[in-house]
Amino acid sequence: MHDILSKSMMRSRLLSARAALGADTRAAAARSMRDELLAVPEVEMGGTIAAYVSIGDEPDTRSLLFALWKRGAYVLLPLLLPDGDLDWASYEGPDSLAPGPRGLLQPTEKPRGPGAVASADVVLVPAVAVDRTGMRLGRGGGSYDRALARVGPAILTVAPVYDAELVDVLPAEPHDQRVRAALTPSQGLVRFA
Ligand SMILES: Nc1ncnc2c1ncn2[C@@H]1O[C@H](COP(=O)(O)OP(=O)(O)OP(=O)(O)O)[C@@H](O)[C@H]1O
Ligand SMILES: [Mg+2]
Repeated sequence: MHDILSKSMMRSRLLSARAALGADTRAAAARSMRDELLAVPEVEMGGTIAAYVSIGDEPDTRSLLFALWKRGAYVLLPLLLPDGDLDWASYEGPDSLAPGPRGLLQPTEKPRGPGAVASADVVLVPAVAVDRTGMRLGRGGGSYDRALARVGPAILTVAPVYDAELVDVLPAEPHDQRVRAALTPSQGLVRFA
């Protein structure tokens, strides 16, 4: 209970700070994160990248998605299921997206099933914050805790966050899944041991 309370307090504090970032900071962050990620070896070689379309104040992933697709990667995007779990379908360019629940933009291609994330070589995971052990704070639905539980131990899982969102320690519950790296505007890809 203690950790659930501190999670929601941290979430609202971090999201307020994120909302206060200026447009220039956001645009510069999106560019540098895209370029850093495109140069990561697992991404350069990866045939399949599971990613997500950023919404609201999240670090912008849209030009990254476009670049991956142009490069010929197979990009999978999530579809939120009624029970909070995630299904996956392929991204076929900016015109292959449609509005979904909770303000999400979702793929319009045929869903491949929740297990499809296990076929990805790299998984991008949205996060409100990540700590130095890879513990991740999401929006509170647990969708990515479920999805990440299906991803093998050798797969690079990356949470793109703004600089102040790579923090020393986050509260953790038993169901929480770690990511193996953070991607920040100033430090690029930060791998966790
Ligand atoms: N594997 C799971 N199966 C069913 N429910 C789960 C699972 N993992 C998490 N949940 C549910 O999700 C709730 C929210 O989890 P948590 O606070 O860790 O979300 P989050 O990691 O911040 O969100 P998200 O992963 O969606 O970004 C948990 O209290 C739990 O009820
Ligand atoms: Mg969690």
